[in-house]
Amino acid sequence: MILVAGGTGRLGTRVVSLLRQRELGVRVLTRDRSRAAHLDGAGVEILEGDIRDPVSVRQAVDGVQQVVSAIHGFAGTKRQSPSTVDRDGNHNLIVAGSEAGVEHLVLVSVKDAGPAHPMDLMRMKYAAEQELKSSGLAWTIIRPTAYMETWCEVLGRPLLEHGKTQIFGRGHNPINWVSMFDVAQFVELAIVDPTLRGEVIEVGGPENLSMEAFVGVFRAETGAQGKVDHVPPLAMRLSAVAMGMVNPTLARQIRAGVVMDTQMQAFDGVEARRCFPSIPITSLREVVRRDFIDAPHP
Ligand SMILES: NC(=O)c1ccc[n+]([C@@H]2O[C@H](COP(=O)([O-])OP(=O)(O)OC[C@H]3O[C@@H](n4cnc5c(N)ncnc54)[C@H](OP(=O)(O)O)[C@@H]3O)[C@@H](O)[C@H]2O)c1
Repeated sequence: MILVAGGTGRLGTRVVSLLRQRELGVRVLTRDRSRAAHLDGAGVEILEGDIRDPVSVRQAVDGVQQVVSAIHGFAGTKRQSPSTVDRDGNHNLIVAGSEAGVEHLVLVSVKDAGPAHPMDLMRMKYAAEQELKSSGLAWTIIRPTAYMETWCEVLGRPLLEHGKTQIFGRGHNPINWVSMFDVAQFVELAIVDPTLRGEVIEVGGPENLSMEAFVGVFRAETGAQGKVDHVPPLAMRLSAVAMGMVNPTLARQIRAGVVMDTQMQAFDGVEARRCFPSIPITSLREVVRRDFIDAPHP
């Protein structure tokens, strides 16, 4: 049995599907069973519980050989944050997993996770990585760049639905984007290939594109018209401070926008993939065609 914490999410759903195609037993942990409705009929065990609650995490790992952590607390309510979910929730998984005799834990972290990063998500993922490495469990850490699919929703879909979109900052900084479909294949490989245990795998995509260029690809493939506005960097910095107390989640998202606009985000995703020739390197163009033209979803 494999526990996929975050199995209802964008990446987790794809991981569940790949593991089920191999006829592996899968349990999904979710805070709300209705969030797993799309997994009905997939032969998956659904367990309602919260990663922040040690009791439900102990239930979730019971009888499990491997665990995938594909959760995050980047967007959520006040009590849902990178510290409560990415650090403390993963702590609960690691402790419960060790006590229950779990063999291996695959942690989906983030590229650039580090102790001094300006984003709390990167710091909390780093804390989880450190705890996992010293836990005594066998582990694999996957550090993806930004998901194309997530950003198609953020930057592209508003063009189709509202005829306009917003870029955070100047939009000129080259950013590495990866398809979450590729990342899911790395998670699957980490589950089935024991040689990946003890490895930190950085997973990027084929191109470094600015947000302007990202929107350009989306427009070229879908034919979407409409206005592209920019949120000025100074306005972002000021509103992140103003929002800090009122809406920490929004403040966190704005700070992430500032980081993406101003800090080094480029990565040689192709070079890093040379050791994994079985996993395709999906381009943004392919993702847009797949999700918005060939099989559009609402
Ligand atoms: N999106 C990106 O650009 C990106 C880039 C690099 C790395 N990542 C990493 O990739 C992984 C998947 O990201 P995603 O964007 O696919 O996620 P997503 O679609 O936003 O899904 C988040 C998942 O986390 C679960 N979750 C959140 N809080 C929870 C809690 N308190 N208890 C139990 N489950 C909880 C949610 O489950 P329920 O809502 O069903 O409870 C959901 O399944 C994460 O580890 C993320 O940090 C993402």
